[in-house]
Amino acid sequence: MKKITIAIDGFSSCGKSTMAKDLAREIGYVYVDSGAMYRAVTLFALEHGIIDGDKIDEERLRQEMQNIEIAFRFNPERGRPDTYLNGVRVEDRIRTLEVSSHVSPIAALGFVREEMVRQQQRMGQEGGIIMDGRDIGTTVFPKAELKIFVTASAEIRAQRRYDELTAKGEPCDMAEILRNVEERDYIDTHRDISPLRQAEDAIILDNSHLTIEDQKQWLLDIFHKTVGE
Ligand code: DC
Repeated sequence: MKKITIAIDGFSSCGKSTMAKDLAREIGYVYVDSGAMYRAVTLFALEHGIIDGDKIDEERLRQEMQNIEIAFRFNPERGRPDTYLNGVRVEDRIRTLEVSSHVSPIAALGFVREEMVRQQQRMGQEGGIIMDGRDIGTTVFPKAELKIFVTASAEIRAQRRYDELTAKGEPCDMAEILRNVEERDYIDTHRDISPLRQAEDAIILDNSHLTIEDQKQWLLDIFHKTVGE
């Protein structure tokens, strides 16, 4: 059977990657977390002094783009791919609050998006891919056979991120996380290039009150319906 392309877009911290990764494992597709790619670029910029406070040295980052190579390798222990930046595993370092606080302005830069979209389209050439992000159904794979747009309230998303960081033993503050979630929502939906918006042909999922299991089943049912099984 022909393998389709699945695009999952939505707000930050609404569980897109959990559902995408679970579905990929279930149906034997490749899973790509496109947000991890923008996070890896942000980590690179932070580590190379390209970001100073709120300032980004755009010219330097533009020149450095050719030196940024992002790859994913499946980690059987985690049951999902880990992110590599120039051959080094950065999966944990791209999830810190520091990277989260700087990633939206980096993801708003046209030259960064152009390069990421080019790499993402190359990864999806063969189909059989589930990619999650903000512009997957609108820009990266506008012809995807299945598009889902996920949403949940900002408070619930902040609580999920808080639980995630606390479980990892990272000190965090709920008010700061909520501010970060709201700030990112604003930047993601208001940027000039590929702002976060629902593709016209996307199916909406508000998962504020769904368990991970419910959500998993919902997605699996939609997938089978789409491929006609
Ligand atoms: O999904 P996430 O929180 O890991 O995404 C990190 C940031 O990257 C977020 O601010 C939005 C941005 N992003 C984007 O602009 N386009 C994508 N396809 C994926 C993420």
